[in-house]
Amino acid sequence: MRTEHAPTIQRADYRPLAWTVERIDLHFRLDPTATLVTNRMVCVRNPDAGAGPIRLWSEALERLSLTVDGKAPVSLREADGQIEIDADGERVLVEVLTRINPQANTTLSGLYQSNGGYFTQCEAEGFRRITCFPDRPDVMARYTVTLEAERDACPVLLSNGNLLEQGDLPDGWHYAKWEDPFLKPSYLFALVAARLEALEREVTTASGRKVLLQVWVEARDLDRCEHAMESLIHSMRWDEEAFGLELDLDRFMIVAVSDFNMGAMENKGLNIFNTKFVLAKPDTATDIDYENVESVVAHEYFHNWTGNRVTCRDWFQLTLKEGLTVFRDQQFSADMLARAAGPEGAASARAVKRIDDVRVLRAAQFPEDGGPMAHPIRPDCYQEINNFYTATVYEKGAEVIRMLHTLLGPEGFRNGMDLYFSYHDGRAVTCDDFVEAMAEANGRDLDQFMHWYAQAGTPRLSARASWDAASASYTLTLSQHTPPTPGQPDKRPLVIPVALGLIGPDGQDCPLQLDGEASPGACTRVLTLTEAEQTFRFVGLTAEPVPSLLRGFSAPVILELEEDDARLAFRMANDADPFNRWDAAQRYSERVALALAAGIADELPQAYVDAFAALLNDGRLDPAFRAQALALPTEGYLLERMSPADPVALRSAMVVVMHGLGQALADDWLGVCDAMQVSGPYRYHPADAGRRALTGLALRYLCAAGDERGLALAQARYEGAGNMTERFAALAALVQSASTASVPALEAFHQRYHDDALVLDKWFALQAGAWRWNEAAPRTVECVRALMADPAFSLSNPNKVYALLGTFFRANPGEFHAADGSGHVFWADQVIALNARNPQVAARMARALENWRRYTPALQASIRPQLERVLASEDLSPDVAEVIGKALS
Ligand code: ARG
Ligand code: ZN
Repeated sequence: MRTEHAPTIQRADYRPLAWTVERIDLHFRLDPTATLVTNRMVCVRNPDAGAGPIRLWSEALERLSLTVDGKAPVSLREADGQIEIDADGERVLVEVLTRINPQANTTLSGLYQSNGGYFTQCEAEGFRRITCFPDRPDVMARYTVTLEAERDACPVLLSNGNLLEQGDLPDGWHYAKWEDPFLKPSYLFALVAARLEALEREVTTASGRKVLLQVWVEARDLDRCEHAMESLIHSMRWDEEAFGLELDLDRFMIVAVSDFNMGAMENKGLNIFNTKFVLAKPDTATDIDYENVESVVAHEYFHNWTGNRVTCRDWFQLTLKEGLTVFRDQQFSADMLARAAGPEGAASARAVKRIDDVRVLRAAQFPEDGGPMAHPIRPDCYQEINNFYTATVYEKGAEVIRMLHTLLGPEGFRNGMDLYFSYHDGRAVTCDDFVEAMAEANGRDLDQFMHWYAQAGTPRLSARASWDAASASYTLTLSQHTPPTPGQPDKRPLVIPVALGLIGPDGQDCPLQLDGEASPGACTRVLTLTEAEQTFRFVGLTAEPVPSLLRGFSAPVILELEEDDARLAFRMANDADPFNRWDAAQRYSERVALALAAGIADELPQAYVDAFAALLNDGRLDPAFRAQALALPTEGYLLERMSPADPVALRSAMVVVMHGLGQALADDWLGVCDAMQVSGPYRYHPADAGRRALTGLALRYLCAAGDERGLALAQARYEGAGNMTERFAALAALVQSASTASVPALEAFHQRYHDDALVLDKWFALQAGAWRWNEAAPRTVECVRALMADPAFSLSNPNKVYALLGTFFRANPGEFHAADGSGHVFWADQVIALNARNPQVAARMARALENWRRYTPALQASIRPQLERVLASEDLSPDVAEVIGKALS
């Protein structure tokens, strides 16, 4: 039985190192099981720190030698993965020779092998698994790297920066030498040695420099790189135009690898990507895949400035680069969509993107913020930093940046960015440095705003209103409250920008005039809430309005507002803000689904069906928007709104809603399938994608309802599909139905794509996420277990684990939490098996049960022993121990 957990690291304990590194020269002799790494680094005393030894970190290294200025160190102490060396003078040369085994490295952190090639992942703390080094982001050094490998096995040798020279060596080996002209922290180091080919493009930057862009993939994937390359070029242009930021290297490389823990990594000049976010062609990738490739390519590219040129002082500051870079990639995608949609459709296209982003926030971040892992976007402590690449740091972090953008305006924000770069280029800084630059550039006091960085938990915003007919005035009282989270019982009021509109009885927005203002102004304005409660009085109205609050989701809060069915239907039909129109539909669905789950209702209210019909048949609305508005909230979000959470009851309710809307609107859905056909060859374009999304949703409802015409149509569309988006949508509709037609379709799909790893991931995920439409069908856990035996499945490949196990644990609560507890036992088995191979992946799977205390007593009784079993298992990684420890505490 394990008793002690990993030590907790505190943000307040940050101290600069006594010695840093000025330059490092790395030499690799690459061998599958015995790679030799020679590290020669110039260590210098840090003028900003007191006296102390040289500190190096080391993990899973076989150290063959270590010298200081060519001699054995006088005094070297080693404990808990850290080495301390006493040294004299101001500058010394430390030389370390280590041997590592890339083939045995199943953690995919440090140097590892994938399909016979060598790849690295160093963020956050992988570099210490390559060589002994002060492996912290505040140590910024200049790197030169020499790679040696067998030419046949690894014809391509890449590292950061510019290629200095390459050539042959005896015995069929060859070498390449790279130099990165920029200072960088060790987490941005990368090397690749593999059999790859590149799609290349030469482009000219805004200032007229020619740069070489490369996308490196396995030869058979060369026909799937065009979209990634286009996305890279668009990202470059956008950063030049939106922020005046240009690519600073002569060469920029993207490499795709199929074994990768995360989405992608922004290593300087050598981004390494999960294949999932590079490869796309019409026959294998869906519209959503195309969209994801574009946004991840942009995200990693944007890190070159927000992350690499200006980096984080310590890992508590992670949101400094991640929140800001997610915000930038969201803005980029919105601009790309708006441009493609043209002036008419731009607003709707932006709203559709905003809805996507908020859906992710609500489904992933809200539950995190309400559970045992809740943390501020800048955490105060952690046990394992890899557990803090979270929806909070990324997505809520991006919302915090967005609020700054809203409060300061686009120009003010841009001025703040310019000032931030002028102060901090080439440095490792903190979130305070960023917000201070924003404040200074705008002459604003942002001290209270900083609470967003310090406080965890999703704030609740509530509104009370009263209408005074005599004075024709409308008084709105807004109040805020942030619930307690672990370690933070009391919260202070935050700065909350509340964009609002008032809708008149005719459905039109009223021009807004606050008491004391001379004349009415715009129909939407941003009120800034800074107190626990504030009152706003609007005048000059002719009748009692309906408020539309938090337009565009102007703050990452939960709006607690009592709205009855009639008002929700009214806003669904009339709200001028498309985001809030969507949100009204979500709220209405939430009410209906939760009432069904609680047994308060047993069928759909007719008014609800009518409100959906009205949206569905409103031909003036962009199809992409309609697809968003007609899709139900995720179960993950709804479970958060249920107390206690009962996933099985919720699933039954969701089946009733899908079935009811499918049946009642069957003719309309069929009409949509007909009207939304896209002709011509596939192109990734938002207009076409919107039509396909709406058709896919229509097929889902029809098949869920068991409509014979719908099932026949899904089968026909499956067989006649001209691209993966249509083919997969039809297959998904068949699988999410009681029809037996899904069986041959799944088989045909497997047959067709049996040697395509990324497409098989979709096939696994679809089955793991399947609802049980038919009482006689086997439990999904049995299907998942059977699929693990498929030769294409492997516990060593993160994509496979995420597709099959991740989908089952996270996206299929109704089946995962089956009353017999079978899902929970299976979960513990898999977390334990993964822990031994890949702690980061194991911890991500472990997190699927962290909110177990929100579930019904019966489920809690089933889950607790499984959490305890994992905690008691042998050799538990700090990653999993932290998650389970917090869940049980
Ligand atoms: N910085 C990478 C990205 O967002 C993610 C790296 C995650 N690494 C990790 N060990 N969790 O863009
Ligand atoms: Zn990032």
